[in-house]
Amino acid sequence: MSSEISRTENRLTLRPTSRGKIVGRSEPLQHLFGSVDRVARANCTVLVTGESGTGKETVVAALHDASARRDAPLVTLNCGAIPEALLESELFGHAKGAFTGAHAARQGRVAAAEGGTLFLDEIGELPLGLQVKLLRLLQQKEYSMVGDSRTLRCNVRIVAATNRDLEAEVRAGRFREDLYYRLNVVHLHIPPLRERPEDVRALLLHFFRSFRDELGRDDLEGFSPEATRLLESYPWPGNVRELENLVERCMLLTIGPEIGENDLPESIRTGAARAGGPESERQVLPALGIDLRAAVEEFESSLIRQALARTNGNKNRAAQLLGLNRTTLVEMVKRKKIAC
Ligand SMILES: Nc1ncnc2c1ncn2[C@@H]1O[C@H](COP(=O)(O)OP(=O)(O)OP(=O)(O)O)[C@@H](O)[C@H]1O
Ligand SMILES: [Mg+2]
Repeated sequence: MSSEISRTENRLTLRPTSRGKIVGRSEPLQHLFGSVDRVARANCTVLVTGESGTGKETVVAALHDASARRDAPLVTLNCGAIPEALLESELFGHAKGAFTGAHAARQGRVAAAEGGTLFLDEIGELPLGLQVKLLRLLQQKEYSMVGDSRTLRCNVRIVAATNRDLEAEVRAGRFREDLYYRLNVVHLHIPPLRERPEDVRALLLHFFRSFRDELGRDDLEGFSPEATRLLESYPWPGNVRELENLVERCMLLTIGPEIGENDLPESIRTGAARAGGPESERQVLPALGIDLRAAVEEFESSLIRQALARTNGNKNRAAQLLGLNRTTLVEMVKRKKIAC
């Protein structure tokens, strides 16, 4: 694990992961590194989004590490892991006698993060009542402990993360629009691993090296070229966390010296075959037949959109990924009216 959570007396501190440990050579990750560097020094609120296991917590730790606040604590509050009734007192602290069992006053995570960064994980789970209080904290840097009406001031940078679509939550009335805009000053999105297969090889190597020392498997040489290719075409629904677990599992079970295709779990082999092979679900002929020309058009458009997204709209790089020249790609984008 590249980050570690340790519970001290009444605060949860996330030991920062060093930036060097975020592995990725794909265009979106390179872009992300640039954004982390640029926004780290500012004090603005940052919203980090991405599917589960894409590295949100890792990026937040890197952001803190690269900021002037790095010597002060990075304190995490997982809004989805704490019962609603306790959340307010965890965040803001409580006064003595504020509720049954509050025998002594206790500081919250905001106070614990003073001078540093407060990381609100799974922000989409924050109940509406607390969203108003968080807005006050963001706008005025002010809050009150539970059971104490006095106003306290703080100096914390707030970073939030979610794997939910917050805009959809706003539309559904579950998330306050004003809070959403306040959190979304800078938005860092981490794409799922299936949209950046160029990162798979580097991540395999990274975790292979770290587990080799941890597991004492000096006899292992690495993943075979066939196994690597197969893993590059696997869609990784659990993203980097799934890849990390797979590397550990393979290194525990493989006799060696190489981790070959046959050492990979059956579920991974069939998952890769389904995603990349001729039996792909998307290519099954529907019972009522298909409009072949329309299907091919849609297939082309989908791959072009993915190539443009993966290269942040860089048409030269997108054309390379598609084996086209730039002029052909530009013509296709225009004809198909693809937004880029
Ligand atoms: N780019 C990366 N380079 C190296 N390790 C990574 C990278 N991205 C993620 N990891 C590792 O993958 C695991 C999952 O990452 P992390 O906990 O940051 O994901 P997350 O997006 O916060 O997931 P969740 O939504 O489930 O909380 C961690 O062990 C982390 O160190
Ligand atoms: Mg997380």
